[in-house]
Amino acid sequence: MSASSLIDLKSLTAGALSRIFALSKEVSQQSLKSGRQIRGTAALVFLEPSTRTRMSFEFACAREGVVPVTLSGEAGSSLEKGETIHDTLTNIDAMSPDLMIVRCGDSVDLAEIAKSLHAPVINAGWGKSGHPTQALLDALTILEKRGRLEATRVLLVGDVRHSRVAASHFELSQKLGYQIAVAGPLEFLPTLPAGVISFATLEEGLQWADVVMALRVQKERHGPGTAVTDFHQRWGLSPRVLNHFKKDGLVMHPGPVNWDVELSTEVLQDPRTVILDQVTHGVFLRQALIRWVLEGGQ
Ligand code: CP
Repeated sequence: MSASSLIDLKSLTAGALSRIFALSKEVSQQSLKSGRQIRGTAALVFLEPSTRTRMSFEFACAREGVVPVTLSGEAGSSLEKGETIHDTLTNIDAMSPDLMIVRCGDSVDLAEIAKSLHAPVINAGWGKSGHPTQALLDALTILEKRGRLEATRVLLVGDVRHSRVAASHFELSQKLGYQIAVAGPLEFLPTLPAGVISFATLEEGLQWADVVMALRVQKERHGPGTAVTDFHQRWGLSPRVLNHFKKDGLVMHPGPVNWDVELSTEVLQDPRTVILDQVTHGVFLRQALIRWVLEGGQ
C-alpha cells in the first residue's frame, strides 16, 4: 500500500494531521478561481451512492489541477458482466492514476485491496467501517468555528451503530483530543469504545455537549426489525429540544438529511447550524488531502 493512502485514521501521524489542516487553511485563503496547470489524474470509483463526497472530490480535483476520471455505480461498467471489484480496481490502477478515491460497501476489503495497488487510495466511505474524510472535514469545521478541538464535547445522536462517520470520529477523537458521547435508541447503539459515554435522553446529552451531530438513519443498512417508530419525537433535533443546548454550540449533520426524522426543517434556520459550512470545508479538506498525497504524504 502506498504510504499516502488514507483508509482509516488510526495510521495518520500527528504531523500528517497538522499538515493536512495547515494545507486546508492555505486552500481556504486562496481564490476559488486560481487557475492551475494539470498536475495529475485521479480515479474516482464510487460503488455506493454519493452527492457531497463525489462532487466535492471532483471540485477539489478541478481546483488542484488534477483531472478526475469517474466510475459511478455498476451500470455501464464490466461489474455488470460479473467482473469483481478487486479486478476493477486493479485494472484502473494499471492505467496509472496519481490517486484513487474509492467508495464501496462492507463486502469489499478496501484495506487489503489497497495494499496491492500502486496508486495511493483515499477511502471515500467504506460500508460501516469508516468515512475518514467526513470526520476530518467535521473536525476542520469545529476548529474553524470554535478555534480549538481539544476537550470539545461532541454528542453523536441517532443511528451510531450503522454510521461510518461515527466509526471515524471514534478514531479521530483519540488523535485530536475531543470527547465523544452518544444518545439514541438502544437498537442504534453499538458496543462503545472506552471513554465514550451514553446518555439516556437527548436533553441530558445536549446539556453536556458543545457540538451536537445528528447522524442519518441508515435504513439501507438495517436488518429486519430495526425500525424505530417514534425516532423524531425522542431523538430528533427541533427548536423545542435545542432549548436545552448552549447558545454558542454547533449543530452538525454529515448529510444527506432525512428531514423531520433527524432534524426538523426549522433547525436549518438556527444560527448554530453549520451543515452547509461542513460541505464548504469538505472541498478545502479534500483539496488539502490531494496536495498532501501529491507531495508524498509527508
Ligand atoms: N456525507 C456524505 O458522505 O454524503 P454523500 O453520501 O452524499 O457523499
